[in-house]
Amino acid sequence: MDAILVRGNGALHGDIPIAGAKNACLTLMPATLLSEEPLTLTNAPRLSDIRTMGLLLESLGAEVSEMQDGKVLALSSHDITNHRAEYDIVRKMRASILVLGPMLARAGHAVVSLPGGCAIGARPVDLHLRALEAMGAELDLKEGYVHAKAPGGLKGGAFEFPFVSVGATENALMAATLAKGTTVLQNAAREPEIVDLAQCLRRMGAQIEGEGSSTITIQGVDRLHGATHPVVPDRIELGTYMLAPAICGGAVTCLGGRMDLVRAFVDKLEEAGINVEETSAGLRVSRGNERVKALDVTTEPFPGFPTDLQAQIMALMCTADGVSVLEEKIFENRFMHAPELMRMGAQIDVQGGTATVTGVEGLKGAPVMATDLRASVSLILAALAAEGETLVNRVYHLDRGYERVEEKLGNVGAQIERVQV
Ligand code: UD1
Repeated sequence: MDAILVRGNGALHGDIPIAGAKNACLTLMPATLLSEEPLTLTNAPRLSDIRTMGLLLESLGAEVSEMQDGKVLALSSHDITNHRAEYDIVRKMRASILVLGPMLARAGHAVVSLPGGCAIGARPVDLHLRALEAMGAELDLKEGYVHAKAPGGLKGGAFEFPFVSVGATENALMAATLAKGTTVLQNAAREPEIVDLAQCLRRMGAQIEGEGSSTITIQGVDRLHGATHPVVPDRIELGTYMLAPAICGGAVTCLGGRMDLVRAFVDKLEEAGINVEETSAGLRVSRGNERVKALDVTTEPFPGFPTDLQAQIMALMCTADGVSVLEEKIFENRFMHAPELMRMGAQIDVQGGTATVTGVEGLKGAPVMATDLRASVSLILAALAAEGETLVNRVYHLDRGYERVEEKLGNVGAQIERVQV
């Protein structure tokens, strides 16, 4: 099994290129099911989650080919030959539920396995289903599968999400593009991945207004056509690599990084005493020799501080000067990295959705275990600044969301390598 071995060795200097967003690509890919014409995605990230979505789409009859070493994805769903998304693929990745809305909208019927449990909380899909019902879908849950029909096609409707859900907004947005009439989604998610999806759908001929605000209005059209769309930069990969010099010292430019994608996160870095500068190449992060200041962070839907950077900012808090408080408001049970960081000498007290981190002078290397995607990269960040060697086990989690992590960090001076254990 692969593991990552890190030897903490101080300041980092250089450039790290930021890939296209995993979470955007995972919702752009199912959009191919809305049209019989080809959809080409450029700036795609090369990750195992993307390959899993490719396999799922292929199982439904789509053609998926990778070009330019995986950076370009050519998708084509001339015919949807199978309308059933099987548990065996869906259980690997929750984003699989995103095939439901497009398949139902184009074909009028679909059967999709429920994604099942997930390491970071219960994560039901009730809002996805309720939004589709508001467009006239008839749903039946049988033996772990959602059986969905829309005889005569979906019809535009109004739906107000009781709380913000990124995935449910994406599913409803895609479905509404082919529904008859107007759909209004209220309390919609405002994440950059939603904006990116709306822009891609518009390139395919959809009529959408208001993406990036909490009300999205979609005027259904009869058909969508082919398009080419560049995937937005990955704001979570960006934030993660911005933390590397913040934790270790030095200066790193994250190439292609944009301030508008990470504003709330940058506010917190600056509060901690880290310098962030937007240049024509991207975002440059630097830190002097002084210790970083403790921080209070609460995760929120966009434009608030992202839950997907919570584990990583905790790694910064571990050696900050003072007591930091981290509140997780999006997912229950998302502090599984805390006991692993404590193996490296961190002082963390978790009570429900709140973690209190008392900064220590330095961390020490230790064998640790990755428990989920973002948790695993927080352990790598902590290890970069720790004294001695850290072996991060179970890195298959990491490969779901970070392409070539050892190469990107190695190029800015980190001592990091992939090893077999
Ligand atoms: C997406 C991201 C994930 C990120 C999350 C929040 C992808 C592939 N994944 O996940 O990385 O952490 O947004 O920014 O884009 N909920 C329900 N019922 C539903 C849907 C969600 O109760 O039908 C709950 C969830 O359990 C969670 C909260 O709503 O507590 C937010 O989840 P949601 O925004 O839907 O997250 P995902 O789209 O799954």
